[in-house]
Amino acid sequence: MEVCMEVEHLSKTYGSGHTERKVLEDCSFFIEQGKLTALVGKSGCGKTTLLQILGGLLPADQGVIVVDGEEIQNKTDDELSDYRAQKTGFVFQDCELLPDYTAQENICFVSDLQGRLRNPEWLEQLVESLNLKGLENRFPQELSGGEQQRVAIARALYHQPAIVFADEPTGNLDTRSADEVFWLLKDCANRFYQTILMVTHDLGLAKQADHVLLIEDGKVFPYEG
Ligand SMILES: Nc1ncnc2c1ncn2[C@@H]1O[C@H](COP(=O)(O)OP(=O)(O)OP(=O)(O)O)[C@@H](O)[C@H]1O
Ligand SMILES: [Mg+2]
Repeated sequence: MEVCMEVEHLSKTYGSGHTERKVLEDCSFFIEQGKLTALVGKSGCGKTTLLQILGGLLPADQGVIVVDGEEIQNKTDDELSDYRAQKTGFVFQDCELLPDYTAQENICFVSDLQGRLRNPEWLEQLVESLNLKGLENRFPQELSGGEQQRVAIARALYHQPAIVFADEPTGNLDTRSADEVFWLLKDCANRFYQTILMVTHDLGLAKQADHVLLIEDGKVFPYEG
């Protein structure tokens, strides 16, 4: 087994004084490389916070976070943006598609930005698997919430990052589409040895992940059964 992310003594608090909210308290855990790990826990327990910290979008208060053998907690802003651009793909809870770009331009955005050649076969595969055929030239405001979410998933996968953070990527989808997205993510982990950390409230889906992490009372721990 190879470890992709190893976290030790991670703590995060928002606010101070009477607005203080301790979200994560002295959490230690690891995430296996090339696997799909589901992250579960009650609303407000800190799932998005944890994804943002591991994805280099939010600083932790304390702790050591090693990703691919590199500590990320002391990186500068520039180093963090390199880390994000080179290693990670993100599906945000609220999609955040670029409004002035079509679905296809959104999907290829990171890869285009990096000056890579388009890969039409891979694009076609993603569009097919995510049921986006015929919607490629629409703008985000012309897509339903679920369609936008599927574009956001394609966008996170298209440039084949080593690590994919997916914050409730199936939240706006019906059961069948949610299943399809889940299996697509699992397939990506298998085929490309990508490490995928996916937030879900669907325990049925979480059970089919390779691993499950649970956040409860400020702690992160492996969940079995
Ligand atoms: N910027 C912030 N400032 C202050 N408190 C915050 C901030 N962001 C989140 N919180 C609080 O931290 C806690 C964890 O929030 P977080 O968004 O990580 O939860 P979550 O597990 O993703 O919830 P959900 O399942 O509803 O998306 C919540 O109590 C939230 O109100
Ligand atoms: Mg959240």
